[in-house]
Amino acid sequence: MFEIYVTDREGIEHQLNIGEGQKLMDVIRDAGLPVDATCGGEGTCATCHVHIDPDWYPKLPEISDSELNFIEAAMTFEPDCSRLSCQIIFNQQLNGLKLQIADDE
Ligand code: FES
Repeated sequence: MFEIYVTDREGIEHQLNIGEGQKLMDVIRDAGLPVDATCGGEGTCATCHVHIDPDWYPKLPEISDSELNFIEAAMTFEPDCSRLSCQIIFNQQLNGLKLQIADDE
C-alpha cells in the first residue's frame, strides 16, 4: 500500500492508503471525503475536481483533451493544478501525492 494526502475544504489533511491501479476519485470518495462523482468516474461531470500540489502536478500523466474540456468549465479551474481525480490512475511513482479537493460549485 501507498499513501496520498488529501486536504478537504476545511483545510484538514487526510492520509489515505491507495494501491497501484486505483483511481484517485474512488479512494477519496470511499474515505468519505466530499467528491460527488455524479458520473461515476466517466470523466463527464467534473464533480471530482481536485487541485494538485504544484510540486506533484508535473509528475501526473498528461491531461487528455476530453478531461481538459470538462475541467475548464469548472468555476474553480486552475490551469496549473486542476485535474479530474477520476482520470488519474495511481502508480507507485505517485506515492506521497498531495492534493486539495476543489471548492464546491
Ligand atoms: S467523477 Fe465525474 S468527472 Fe470525475
